[in-house]
Amino acid sequence: MADSNKSTAGIHYDQSTSEAYSLYRPLWTDTIVGRVMDYVGEKLPGPPTQAIDVGCGTGQFTTMLAPYFQRVIGLDPSPYQVENANKGCVPPNVTYQVGNAEKLPVPNDSADLVTAATAAHWFDMNDFYKESARILRPNGCLAVLYYDVIPDIHGSSNGDAIKRLLDEYFILLQDRNMWVEPAETNYVTHFARDVDAPFPKPFVDYTREDSLDIKKDISVSEILGYVKSWSSTGNLMKTCSDAGSILERLESSLRALWPDSHLITVTHPVWVRMARKS
Ligand SMILES: C[S@@+](CC[C@H](N)C(=O)[O-])C[C@H]1O[C@@H](n2cnc3c(N)ncnc32)[C@H](O)[C@@H]1O
Repeated sequence: MADSNKSTAGIHYDQSTSEAYSLYRPLWTDTIVGRVMDYVGEKLPGPPTQAIDVGCGTGQFTTMLAPYFQRVIGLDPSPYQVENANKGCVPPNVTYQVGNAEKLPVPNDSADLVTAATAAHWFDMNDFYKESARILRPNGCLAVLYYDVIPDIHGSSNGDAIKRLLDEYFILLQDRNMWVEPAETNYVTHFARDVDAPFPKPFVDYTREDSLDIKKDISVSEILGYVKSWSSTGNLMKTCSDAGSILERLESSLRALWPDSHLITVTHPVWVRMARKS
């Protein structure tokens, strides 16, 4: 499984998906990162020095860690994601490199925090837990975060109809097997949300936080850009001859309900699982 992850990530997050990713993916909030750092602060005896963000994509979570650590490394097997992460505003203590969850290019006992933000569904979790335990110092922490793919829609009388269109498109992608996520915690069918098992030993003090969210006011063009950042949409465009007409239909249906000049509030519920290395 580890090998298939390594070889396919670059395919699923290719250049155009990765560009949409860096432009349209939701940004994590100070509150969410603060909650992770509160946990780290409770568990670590001294100030944290190094964090590793695994499956960093174009750096949405990685950059949020910069103020708290001397050094932050973002790792992603897709060279396009790493390239686009480097095109953004990179804090001086952050570096991005190609790498994968199953073989972290970091020495033993050298990290205070390992994170996986909306990424662990791609990993071989057994290898990832082993590697995280290897590179974390004693009392170093592991945090696995997710947000729901389809946001809740607020502040529009068309909210239910908009959500229905997104749900229908999502199901079409599922029916055509376009969500090619290899791990057992299948994020897109919400199985990852149902997983609440403590991380395996040597991790202890497992906790889970479900009360957080990412809220933003967005335009119809931004929601369409977000849909194009999904690896499944990238797969649809590469493999299905009717992809263009499916996306055109989605676009015209959404635009009929969502005038271009209107911003609508969308909310992605977030859940975070954390533990420390004993
Ligand atoms: C949905 S994106 C999450 C990006 C970012 N962390 C965020 O919060 O938006 C998932 C990322 O996991 C990466 N990925 C896929 N397989 C991986 C693996 N085996 N190890 C590490 N990252 C992987 C993908 O290339 C992709 O960039």
